Amino acid sequence: MISIGVLASGNGSNLQAIIDACRDGTLSASVDVVISNNSRSGALDRARKEGIEACHLSTATHPNPEALDLAMVDTFRRCKIDLIVTAGYLKKLGPLLLASWKSRIVNIHPSLLPRHGGLGMYGINVHRAVIDSGDQVTGITIHRVSGDYDTGDVLAQKTIPVDPDDTAESLSARVLKEEHGFLIATLRDLIERISPAET
Ligand code: GRF
Repeated sequence: MISIGVLASGNGSNLQAIIDACRDGTLSASVDVVISNNSRSGALDRARKEGIEACHLSTATHPNPEALDLAMVDTFRRCKIDLIVTAGYLKKLGPLLLASWKSRIVNIHPSLLPRHGGLGMYGINVHRAVIDSGDQVTGITIHRVSGDYDTGDVLAQKTIPVDPDDTAESLSARVLKEEHGFLIATLRDLIERISPAET
């Protein structure tokens, strides 16, 4: 059984999809801790509601970046986390966390990376950029996390057509709906290939 830790800053609908898939047996895993930089995130509320440890760790709790990095690593180690999923997490990960979990950190991004990724490309901004560029397709990318925003080996991508009358809002809603199933299918494949790690 794989132990998953989730990092999330916002509503946490992807987190909920993971929790639900663990519960119904689609994933041979459990979500054992959720960390958010946002003390008022829906993600932390969802974790608490599910009886999952919910931690607020941010520059507010740890002004020193090294101390914050260490606190996150300590939390994931204490919870014996094998796989970390960043699902709508808006901060860069610290060097100790990256080195400790290496290829076992996975991010979901709502575009076909490398298009529309990088600093500032989150939430509705991504979908606005797609519409403004006149792209006829967009999609979802699930990738391993390297040091920078939205970089690292791509694990899976799904293409989604952009309709001529799409707005950033309509596109965002449609892509997010597709994200949940695609994230679970991709995690399922990944989990089948890894065994619990010594971290
Ligand atoms: C999703 O679109 C995800 O791809 C992106 O941030 C959004 C998070 O949504 N990284 P939610 O918090 O999981 O509902």
